Amino acid sequence: MNSSAPGSAPASAPGKVILFGEHAVVYGRPALAVPVTQVHADVNVSDSSRSGIWIDAPDINLHAELNTLPSDHPLASVIHNFLFISSRVSSSPLTSLPGGEGKFPNLEIKITSTIPVAAGLGSGAAVTVALTRALASHLNYSMTDEEVNAFAYEIEKIHHGTPSGIDNTVVTYARPVYFVKGQAMETFKVGKPFTIIIGDTGISAPTKESVSDVRRLWLTDKSRWETIFDKIAEISFTARRAIEQGHWEILGELMNENHQLLQKLTVSSPELDGLVAAACNAGALGAKMSGGGRGGNMLALVRPDLAETVSASLQEAGARNTIITQIS
Ligand code: PMV
Repeated sequence: MNSSAPGSAPASAPGKVILFGEHAVVYGRPALAVPVTQVHADVNVSDSSRSGIWIDAPDINLHAELNTLPSDHPLASVIHNFLFISSRVSSSPLTSLPGGEGKFPNLEIKITSTIPVAAGLGSGAAVTVALTRALASHLNYSMTDEEVNAFAYEIEKIHHGTPSGIDNTVVTYARPVYFVKGQAMETFKVGKPFTIIIGDTGISAPTKESVSDVRRLWLTDKSRWETIFDKIAEISFTARRAIEQGHWEILGELMNENHQLLQKLTVSSPELDGLVAAACNAGALGAKMSGGGRGGNMLALVRPDLAETVSASLQEAGARNTIITQIS
């Protein structure tokens, strides 16, 4: 977390994990996602005595003035577009956003994140949300959660093609979300807390590619893939009810079924399948890949007393990192 010096504006946003429904969510089906607060992006904005907007992001070895970055750089696009909507500059690549003329401020922006990049944990959305809130706070520009979410979605669209909007929504509200693309944010209650383990393959896989591969499949035989999306939708719907009613044990079987459907969509990988099998062999109640797939993370449902054992088995099976987290 940032220490808050006088005149500085800190903001933080959590990681997220998709429990059920990834990929199908792009086609209008519901998905469930929850924040992962063990990992987070932190941003601090303060006035600068030097001219320009200086970005210090040591995790990605970036120390630069804004205008030396290409305009499509993910951090540059957040800052440029924020300055535009808050009426500090008069042009923006996001023509759908309202904006106006204004003065360019001199700023120091420090960005750190413990969320693995391109691993399905929402690192991009978390940095966007934390950066937007820190800029808004420092520059006294009032933004509601809805506005932060809508802005972060526009930024996701620049970098991810056709995102459903689930990442920015969970990260903005930092609450469990039942997400249907284009519909108002719906949160859900967790009847009884349950434990999941997130296992990282260590393979960085751009979501944009798996999403466009699924689109290619869908275009070849829409009715076949729509049937798969409908099955995933049924799983998400059943899972939500089970979570709300505190019947979390049945989520294991639902995870296994969801994973098999994601395999059919070709978005799993030998590494993800290996970790899913390792978790189940070690006593998990079920497991699945999570997020875009091909790499990134998987998750396993465990009874709390088995969490350490399953986590150790995942690491033996090649997981780069594991996070044990309680969903409540
Ligand atoms: O890889 P992640 O965690 O950013 O999740 C992507 C989820 C997809 O459904 C595959 C894409 C989307 O935009 O919803």
